[in-house]
Amino acid sequence: LDNGLMRTPPMGWLAWERFRCDIDCKNDPSNCIRYGGRVGTGGTGLSLCERLFRDMADRLAEDGWRELGYVYVNIDDCWSSMERDKEGRLQPDPDRFPGGIPRLAQYIHNRGLKLGIYGDLGTHTCGGYPGTTLDKVAVDAQTFADWGVDMLKLDGCYSNVTEQAKGEEEEEMEKEGGRERTDEEGNDCCGTDGEKERVREGRDEEGPRMTKERRRKRDERGYPLMSKALNATQRPIAYSCSWPAYQGGLPPDVNYTQLGEICNLWRNYDDIQDSWDSVLSIVDWFSDNQDVLQAAAGPGRWNDPDMVRQSLSLLEQSRSQMALWAIMAAPLFMSNDLRTLSSEARAILQNKVLIGINQDPLGVQGVRLLKEKSRIEVFWRPLVDSASALVFFSRRTDMPYRYRTSLLNLGYPSGSYKSSVVVKDQRETERELEERAVYDVFTEKTLPVLKHDTYFTVSINPTGVVT
Ligand code: DGJ
Repeated sequence: LDNGLMRTPPMGWLAWERFRCDIDCKNDPSNCIRYGGRVGTGGTGLSLCERLFRDMADRLAEDGWRELGYVYVNIDDCWSSMERDKEGRLQPDPDRFPGGIPRLAQYIHNRGLKLGIYGDLGTHTCGGYPGTTLDKVAVDAQTFADWGVDMLKLDGCYSNVTEQAKGEEEEEMEKEGGRERTDEEGNDCCGTDGEKERVREGRDEEGPRMTKERRRKRDERGYPLMSKALNATQRPIAYSCSWPAYQGGLPPDVNYTQLGEICNLWRNYDDIQDSWDSVLSIVDWFSDNQDVLQAAAGPGRWNDPDMVRQSLSLLEQSRSQMALWAIMAAPLFMSNDLRTLSSEARAILQNKVLIGINQDPLGVQGVRLLKEKSRIEVFWRPLVDSASALVFFSRRTDMPYRYRTSLLNLGYPSGSYKSSVVVKDQRETERELEERAVYDVFTEKTLPVLKHDTYFTVSINPTGVVT
């Protein structure tokens, strides 16, 4: 979307993957915010749930994140009251956000950060809170602007087109246990992957909730309408659309040209979960469909493979996710507890070279170049000044694998980036394009200059990367 926002992939913090819909601040204060503390306001005048966002803003501002570009503090589902106000506007839950969203926005803006909020184009959010039906698009956009919101993520659960169908859908939801759904741990919540999977596999027509056709009709009007409505508020509000994730993620059902015109970023695929398998399935889907997806991405319009998780059990896997997300030009929304993050995890997320790759101004999304039988995969992203980033990624689970290759062997696609390689020393590339200065991101070492046909070996840890 050409609204001047997000010319490089956005960076910040998003509540969902880590904190979900855990709203029981009264009975479960430590899990609710994973922080402990007393029920009530704790003498701060802020509710504990509100404190979660305040705390994250403090950490972003005080622990060096903001300077690196992590500026968004984003609320996800379950923030609102179950009812709209008398004027039909959304309103936050009064116990959990007693000062309203403007107070939180002020707090966040005072720290040089931006506030993101969540909505859902449908009768209800995935968590069962009031959604944005077509007649409410303009009023919700204006409400968000009045509150000082800087970004909107518009989800796609419980879609519908007509008021009559709305009634039907509610019945269907009740039959399915819809809004009462719980996740694996039994939390009240709302993973929508089942819904997305049904769409992807073309089974949506059979599902009781919504046919593909009905969904398409609603979405075709709703997502562009919200884009216009946000623009009409005259407040710069970045716009994240979950539209493609509910349409199977691929053409012809998804029109990426149109998406690029109306949204700054979009979720294409399933929600990330706290498991390595989930990361791998996302990397696979994005790589298997990279031709379509790479063409869709660019400054102001990004594919969003979802959040960067905290609790990958191995640091190796955290490094891999960060390196692959950098290569994919993915939005870097961390979903973690910044109050308790280990110094090792912080070092990975604050790695300046990886962030530099992610934020490269050329804005070209990287691709998977090779998928070897040895379960080593090589990813490549062209960067400005004929530089490139390479990631050697191991899917192995046995031992460090010594992968031998040459730049020539990697077979870069022909075209303008043909002879560029991982290089941080740009003077070197300007002088001699056949020789590359090479920098290893994690060992922080400059390696011997490589000729195009020089063989070299990288030792890649199981589930790890060399970048
Ligand atoms: C589905 C989305 O894909 C998730 O990222 C999250 O926003 C949940 N809905 C919230 O219910």
